[in-house]
Amino acid sequence: MTKGNIPRHVGFIMDGNGRWAKEHGKPRTFGHKKGADVIHEIVSASFNGGIEVVSLYAFSTENWARPKDEVDSIFDLLRKFLKKYAKELIDEEIKLIISGDLSALPENLRSECLERIADTCRFSEHVLNIAINYGSKAEIVRAVNQALKNGKTQISEEDIAENSYTKGLPDIDLIVRTGGEQRLSNFFLWQAAYAELYFTDVYWPDFHKKQLGEAIGWFSNRQRRFGDVSPK
Ligand code: IPE
Ligand code: IPE
Ligand code: MG
Repeated sequence: MTKGNIPRHVGFIMDGNGRWAKEHGKPRTFGHKKGADVIHEIVSASFNGGIEVVSLYAFSTENWARPKDEVDSIFDLLRKFLKKYAKELIDEEIKLIISGDLSALPENLRSECLERIADTCRFSEHVLNIAINYGSKAEIVRAVNQALKNGKTQISEEDIAENSYTKGLPDIDLIVRTGGEQRLSNFFLWQAAYAELYFTDVYWPDFHKKQLGEAIGWFSNRQRRFGDVSPK
């Protein structure tokens, strides 16, 4: 599902903030702050480069296992990010969606999310999807349960897609994971069924426009066959 050789939908697993901080002799929370600082550059470069949907992994259902002060500081950074770019989202006509269970989040973060979603729900050209308290397995179970609640007795692929957080969006074409690990860590398993996977050792706070360009360049040389014998 590409437009030329530009992916329509890119998912970023923003990993390596803690190790970046350690290498700089700083606390992990400082790494998260630096990581939050590069998000804007990457998201705007993505949209300017023709990408339609950007999905960001900000906090996983597994990340609750971390020390409370680290979790609190991640939530605080997310709230500040959304507040800081509230106007820009509207000016640039970017639709914000949040994937994940908002009910478990601090009230001030939840309300910031809901306000940004409401402010931008009329847009469609560019979509910024932030995964907060998100896990793919939980999402799929939730989708099945919603379909059952709606009276379905047999679940189809369309039912799962329709009841997912990314309803109506194209599937993920490219996943970029920074920080050197080569795994998906429960990130959009359904939507990334046919995604190209790009892993880089660069830590997220050091991932800039140049590195994004390298990832897109790599993607544009992939041959996508979707099970067929010739490239699509
Ligand atoms: C990713 O960076 C950010 C979140 C999970 C919120 P990490 O905090 O996982 O950084 P490393 O993997 O420990 O370096
Ligand atoms: C994945 O990173 C989650 C986010 C980037 C938000 P983790 O650092 O939590 O992943 P694992 O634990 O190394 O798989
Ligand atoms: Mg990590």
